[in-house]
Amino acid sequence: MSDQSSRKKHEMNKERLTNRQGHPVTQNQNIRTVGNRGPGTLENYDYIEKISHFDRERVPERVVHGRGAGAHGYFETYGKIGDEPSSKYTRAKLFQEKGKRTPVFVRFSTVIHGTHSPETLRDPRGFAVKFYTEDGNWDLVGNNIKIFFIRDAMKFPDMIHAFKPDPVTNIQDPERFFDFCASSPESFHMVTFIYSPWGIPANYRQMQGSGVNTYKMVNDEGEAVLVKYHWEPKQGIKNLTQKEAEGIQGQNFNHATQDLYEAIEEGNYPEWELYVQIMADGEHPELDFDPLDDTKLWPEDQFPWLPVGKMVLDRNPDDYFAEVEQSAFGTGVLVDGLDFSDDKMLQGRTFSYSDTQRHRIGANYLQLPINRANKEVNTNQEGGNMRYEVDRHSSKNPAINYEPSILGGYEEAEPYGKDHEPYVEGNLTRESIERTSNTKQAGETFRQFEEWEKAELISNLVNDLSVCDQRIQDRWMELAEEADDEYGRRLREGLEKAKNGMDDSSRGPLGNTSSSEATEKAERE
Ligand code: HEM
Repeated sequence: MSDQSSRKKHEMNKERLTNRQGHPVTQNQNIRTVGNRGPGTLENYDYIEKISHFDRERVPERVVHGRGAGAHGYFETYGKIGDEPSSKYTRAKLFQEKGKRTPVFVRFSTVIHGTHSPETLRDPRGFAVKFYTEDGNWDLVGNNIKIFFIRDAMKFPDMIHAFKPDPVTNIQDPERFFDFCASSPESFHMVTFIYSPWGIPANYRQMQGSGVNTYKMVNDEGEAVLVKYHWEPKQGIKNLTQKEAEGIQGQNFNHATQDLYEAIEEGNYPEWELYVQIMADGEHPELDFDPLDDTKLWPEDQFPWLPVGKMVLDRNPDDYFAEVEQSAFGTGVLVDGLDFSDDKMLQGRTFSYSDTQRHRIGANYLQLPINRANKEVNTNQEGGNMRYEVDRHSSKNPAINYEPSILGGYEEAEPYGKDHEPYVEGNLTRESIERTSNTKQAGETFRQFEEWEKAELISNLVNDLSVCDQRIQDRWMELAEEADDEYGRRLREGLEKAKNGMDDSSRGPLGNTSSSEATEKAERE
């Protein structure tokens, strides 16, 4: 090959920089100026396009679950729910045929702190799964812990305000957290988990997931059962002590994202098994809790975990922003054969997700590749910011963007099967559910903890509670005593000791400085 032709080939292989209009960018080092010392000119399209796009690089952060990591993979069904064919409980297609694979995208997250906050903080972890099924998308938007702080959606904004930094100082303050929780005793069980090592999973691969809220499954006859979903990691479960977390945080505040990314790059694909717990639809007056109360566990001996399939994550995103940041999950996104229950939190959540996503990403957020269904979509939606897809592929009459019509356009789909039509009656009211039982299960959870988990729980609680107003401490101790004698006694003793020799520098897990000193003290005792 001659010098000339090899140079030509080299030139042809180069991928040339262009702007978004497709114009080649021939000068990317210097803005356009009068003479080489300026001043600059305003008609400099390349510069203005470059900088003004840069100025808009961020979309609003999620109001909660700001920091996350994501991965692609698949879900494979066993075709059975426990020993029964899946069709007994649900007609959802993704569960029917043994071995059937459905592509998924998963986003793990922390909850309270912002996009680049340390991944070692004491916080629930989000576990959101988008299944791209043949019937459209199903989102299972869960957390690592199987219960939640509150049971009514009305309280969610207050709860999040209390958990976020002080609006005046912008400093994280455990007094705000415990002020809200002590005044909302239904949170006691969740706080018992969060202040134990379960509040700091070692990474995203070694934690459980749970849909938390109660859903329904519906079969061909339109009959429904209540259902809870749980993910069990095949990698095992690993949680951290406060001290271990501080050690990691001192060196790497991205450790969970890094762990997930590197495992997948190395071909060490993480897997989870999906289980369901099933209960007959109804109020279940025989139980001392309400099946629609998301602050309660469904006891495993009464409602066994039934395996339904497994999920494997085997591909990292190509681009963090396009896939992880712009992904949008919501509890309203169900497929035929899956349904809502009357769980008040679930209903409140279902409005909130798509509402915030229209604000966060825009009215056409469902046209983005990461959120788009994996099948043809035929809506009559029009316009909106950043709309770039046209659904009207119909050759019949693309101008008909309404329904019904004699002239063409899309027609209503056939129902899949018999609708589930629960009968509902009652006065419209604003009341709490009757079976609150706020502390009983927290006592059971405490008794099931191993000794090191109990010790961590007490020392973490003492760290944060000891900087709170005495009235908050008193209320919290009453709840602990109600839950379990040992729990109450150890917390009271810990708080008394802290009071007598309290060192103000040892603010705790939700506080702004290290608690390792206090943890060491608790260990010595
Ligand atoms: C994210 C609201 C309870 C799990 C969000 C977002 C909102 C929200 C507004 C941000 C979504 C976005 O910007 O895309 C609510 C409300 C709740 C509630 C109003 C109660 C009434 C829960 C509960 C769970 C949960 C009980 C656990 C089962 C998640 C997860 C995300 C999230 C995992 C992050 C999703 C992602 O990775 O993009 N929530 N939430 N939320 N929520 Fe909730």
